[in-house]
Amino acid sequence: MAKALRPLAGKVAAVTGGARGIGRATAAALLARGVRVAIGDIDAELAEQTAQALGPGAAGLPLDVTERASFSAFLTEAESRLGPLEIMINNAGIMPVGPFLEETDAIARRMVDINLHGVILGSKLALERFAARGSGHLVNIASIAGKSGVPHLATYVATKHAVVGLTESLRMEFGASGVSFSVVMPVGTNTELYSGLQQVRGIKTPEPEDVAEAIVEALQTGRFDVYVPRRMNATIRLGVLVPRRAADAINKLLGGDEAVTKPDRAARAAYEQRIGQTIAPATPSAPEPEVATVPANGQAGAESARPENDLQSEAEASQSEIKPPISTPASS
Ligand SMILES: NC(=O)c1ccc[n+]([C@@H]2O[C@H](COP(=O)([O-])OP(=O)(O)OC[C@H]3O[C@@H](n4cnc5c(N)ncnc54)[C@H](O)[C@@H]3O)[C@@H](O)[C@H]2O)c1
Repeated sequence: MAKALRPLAGKVAAVTGGARGIGRATAAALLARGVRVAIGDIDAELAEQTAQALGPGAAGLPLDVTERASFSAFLTEAESRLGPLEIMINNAGIMPVGPFLEETDAIARRMVDINLHGVILGSKLALERFAARGSGHLVNIASIAGKSGVPHLATYVATKHAVVGLTESLRMEFGASGVSFSVVMPVGTNTELYSGLQQVRGIKTPEPEDVAEAIVEALQTGRFDVYVPRRMNATIRLGVLVPRRAADAINKLLGGDEAVTKPDRAARAAYEQRIGQTIAPATPSAPEPEVATVPANGQAGAESARPENDLQSEAEASQSEIKPPISTPASS
């Protein structure tokens, strides 16, 4: 007999990075099931707009997942407006792409800070609440990149493997606590983060709504491993069973080795510019001289000296046209 679905109506959820993309679609899907949702985002203005657009039951709040004070203030405010937190969705993430040796330390640190430490922090703050009450559901958004390797995406892939390992371990550590866990692993999804990149052959690019529905299903069933699309579960398991050379050949056949190495830079420019704005400037005492600078008019001074990859252009953004984060949370 099929297990009864867990009811969601009336619960309170928090979604990090919920102003756009997968986070926004997840907030919308939860609201449609009668869940009250706190949408936190470093783009506080957009979080507020998104909450207003999604209707009553949603609250848009400032959040920087890298700062404990900001994260704590977000959850405290969410609970005072909506009620005790029962669902935590650690979704915020960034994905700069480019050759590993051209990735600056600032970009690598920022990725680890948001994609991994932000999830660690969100997991701690949620589990403090959940464990004390003996209930709650923690959902961490990893990626199919948390189960495989992808050239030109090494640090991102490392953060996502870490999120899978973190969630696996928390599930065991809190096994008897009454808390549920899910780790979500979508393939490239149609959001700004994946703009200008290729999909693996034979897989239809999911919409953020597809990921949102998979998350809703996991909350209703308690499913831990959430692949999007679902059949990636079998693909990943098969890849582990066959010899490495065969797995490499299958990956090549599917175009997995080239999904990210040939980005459409024009299509990706807006995304790279957006995330570049939140990357900390290099300290003046430790400049990285190999990086070309961009004059105030935004044109590269010597085009021939300008590195041909996205990470580098992001480094330019971080070091020569530093703007404050899109929106600074009041508490940080
Ligand atoms: N789109 C894909 O192809 C894909 C595939 C697999 C996994 N994912 C993961 O899904 C998650 C959401 O990705 P998306 O595609 O919706 O990206 P997105 O860029 O559309 O949305 C991410 C949101 O996170 C917010 N954010 C960034 N830094 C933040 C910070 N420090 N604090 C709070 N908010 C912050 C951004 O402002 C943005 O609104 C990410 O963790 C990503 O790695 C995405």
